[in-house]
Amino acid sequence: MRLSFWKICLICSPVVATTEVVKLQASAHLPVGASKPVEHAFASFSFPVHFFADFAGNKSHPNRFSQDVVRLLHEKTGAWPHIRVGGTSGDRAIYNASQTQSIILSEELDNGIPLEVYLGPTWFEGFETFPTPWTFGVNLANNKSNALDNALAEAEAALKHIKGNLVAFEIGNEPDLYPGSVRPLNFTEADYVREWRYFADAISQRVMKGNKYGLDWWKIFQALTFVDGWSVSKAFDEYGIDSTGHVKLVSQHQYAAGNADWVRLGRSFMNHTAIAANLTQYIPAMEALQAYDPQIPFLLGETNSDYVNLNMAGVEGVFGSSLWLVDYLLFGMSLNITRFNLIQGTTFGYTAWVPVQYNGQDPKVKPPLYGQLVVADVIGHHRTVQVKSLDLGRDNLSAYAIYESDILAKYVVVNLDEWNSTTVYPRPSQQISLDVPGYVNTAEAKRLTGPGASADTGISWGGLSWNYTDGRLARSGSDRCDILRVSHGRLAVELPSSEAVVVEFHHQ
Ligand SMILES: *[C@@H]1O[C@H](CO)[C@@H](O)[C@H](O)[C@H]1NC(C)=O
Ligand SMILES: *[C@@H]1O[C@H](CO)[C@@H](O)[C@H](O)[C@H]1NC(C)=O
Ligand SMILES: *[C@@H]1O[C@H](CO)[C@@H](O)[C@H](O)[C@H]1NC(C)=O
Ligand SMILES: *[C@@H]1O[C@H](CO)[C@@H](O)[C@H](O)[C@H]1NC(C)=O
Ligand SMILES: *[C@@H]1O[C@H](CO)[C@@H](O)[C@H](O)[C@H]1NC(C)=O
Ligand SMILES: *[C@@H]1O[C@H](CO)[C@@H](O)[C@H](O)[C@H]1NC(C)=O
Ligand SMILES: *[C@@H]1O[C@H](CO)[C@@H](O)[C@H](O)[C@H]1NC(C)=O
Ligand SMILES: *[C@@H]1O[C@H](CO)[C@@H](O)[C@H](O)[C@H]1NC(C)=O
Ligand SMILES: *[C@@H]1O[C@H](CO)[C@@H](O)[C@H](O)[C@H]1NC(C)=O
Ligand SMILES: *[C@@H]1O[C@H](CO)[C@@H](O)[C@H](O)[C@H]1NC(C)=O
Repeated sequence: MRLSFWKICLICSPVVATTEVVKLQASAHLPVGASKPVEHAFASFSFPVHFFADFAGNKSHPNRFSQDVVRLLHEKTGAWPHIRVGGTSGDRAIYNASQTQSIILSEELDNGIPLEVYLGPTWFEGFETFPTPWTFGVNLANNKSNALDNALAEAEAALKHIKGNLVAFEIGNEPDLYPGSVRPLNFTEADYVREWRYFADAISQRVMKGNKYGLDWWKIFQALTFVDGWSVSKAFDEYGIDSTGHVKLVSQHQYAAGNADWVRLGRSFMNHTAIAANLTQYIPAMEALQAYDPQIPFLLGETNSDYVNLNMAGVEGVFGSSLWLVDYLLFGMSLNITRFNLIQGTTFGYTAWVPVQYNGQDPKVKPPLYGQLVVADVIGHHRTVQVKSLDLGRDNLSAYAIYESDILAKYVVVNLDEWNSTTVYPRPSQQISLDVPGYVNTAEAKRLTGPGASADTGISWGGLSWNYTDGRLARSGSDRCDILRVSHGRLAVELPSSEAVVVEFHHQ
């Protein structure tokens, strides 16, 4: 008897869920456990070395479409996004001072990444096409006897073009994957730290010392870049990666998944519980770093949805990915992660934009860009923005309170319930009731909408859409928001499945 009762409930559940009101109550003043102030450039970029020229172009032919994307984010927050250039292909890069071509790549690929990468001097002109802060990774994986000379030449060429916008050099990429590939199987974390310090000393003394840009010549490195396995606390406390004071920032890399069959929008990416687990795993590392030196920022210097990069059509680079990204970024902020450098790639399924012609198609905006635009607007221009995640205990709904100078200013709610145009029932809606401070009379609701989680077109944020037109980023649509009126201290919002809303208070 009980079993059949439960069966009936399961069939009814989408309908039942639409009638239940979720009440959100954020404290009017900054609560205990809210994040530290958020960096305005929180949602930043990482470009793989082999795609950098696609995204940036060169001095005489900058990529204006990419420049427009970066400028749009700057408009929204007042901060230029950071750009980190590096990755696996950076750890294969060989500098050739007499190479006239900007970059030469082998045809042979692994995960869409060429096995051989040769850089000529003009490749480095790309750094002059955006006025952004930069981080550049030199090659440590190289196991030839001239590896250090190659790294020094790369650092020198990069500094020449990055000039005063240099934030940090990275040395190597994901060294925890070196054993058995570019180093013997017995290569350890302690070995890595020893090599890293040797390269850092040399770059400081032979490239950075006496630089004319006023850059700190010694504390100028972003360390670790681990993706799997090795320990942040051991690198600092046991092996002494910073014992000579070179470490300025610490970066780890995070990918939610590879392209296994079980990876799906609803169960995987559009799942707040999974997103939260992807990020709370860094808490012990952050605590260890905080205990070592609270001034060293911890960031995800290379991150996105899928480390295999390719063949995930319908599951990444779709509207559900925009929603995934909003939740991923906001939850990361709420944990005090300093910055996310979202990795892009011309051929990568999760890329936010395709910067050049590819497969006979024009450059284009892809849905993940919208996730980044929404988060940039959530951060906005206010000087002191802090975030608190509101725990709803749900896989398919998440919510955040945003504080400006300690005062509740916005709510963000993401409905991660997967719905698409082929779903056999009407799009469900979640009723939400927001508790608001007494002085608020009205609020503005802006929505991130799309025709369904698997759509890759027809997306808009606050009524606006962006895409490539005639070499530039063009905007279409018109500003749209709902004005909500407070009734009995609450605001009512209806949020369809696969949609996000940002509710901003009008202070009167
Ligand atoms: C983030 O930092 C703030 C301010 O230091 C702190 O109160 C809060 O507990 C931190 N959050 C987490 C998840 O550690
Ligand atoms: C700059 O890029 C343009 C267009 O891709 C190319 O034709 C030109 O040769 C490049 N210049 C240099 C110095 O590499
Ligand atoms: C460097 O580039 C020059 C000019 O293209 C080429 O002749 C030379 O073989 C290259 N050196 C290496 C080590 O690839
Ligand atoms: C050196 O690196 C190459 C790849 O560049 C790899 O094939 C080779 O096995 C590495 N050698 C050692 C001793 O790890
Ligand atoms: C690590 O392995 C290499 C051969 O792959 C060997 O020459 C070396 O002695 C080993 N090092 C240690 C510390 O065992
Ligand atoms: C969401 O992710 C969590 C953690 O990975 C998992 O336990 C749960 O089953 C997932 N939810 C759905 C609907 O698949
Ligand atoms: C990260 O999220 C994916 C779902 O996208 C999940 O399968 C995986 O287990 C999560 N990883 C961790 C470490 O929580
Ligand atoms: C969302 O998840 C809850 C359980 O956390 C479930 O009851 C509900 O049916 C799901 N779907 C919708 C549309 O809310
Ligand atoms: C559309 O959504 C349904 C769930 O409502 C899901 O089973 C299906 O896989 C989705 N379609 C695609 C193409 O992802
Ligand atoms: C941008 O335009 C291209 C080409 O028309 C299209 O394929 C793509 O879906 C559009 N992007 C979005 C996010 O709508």
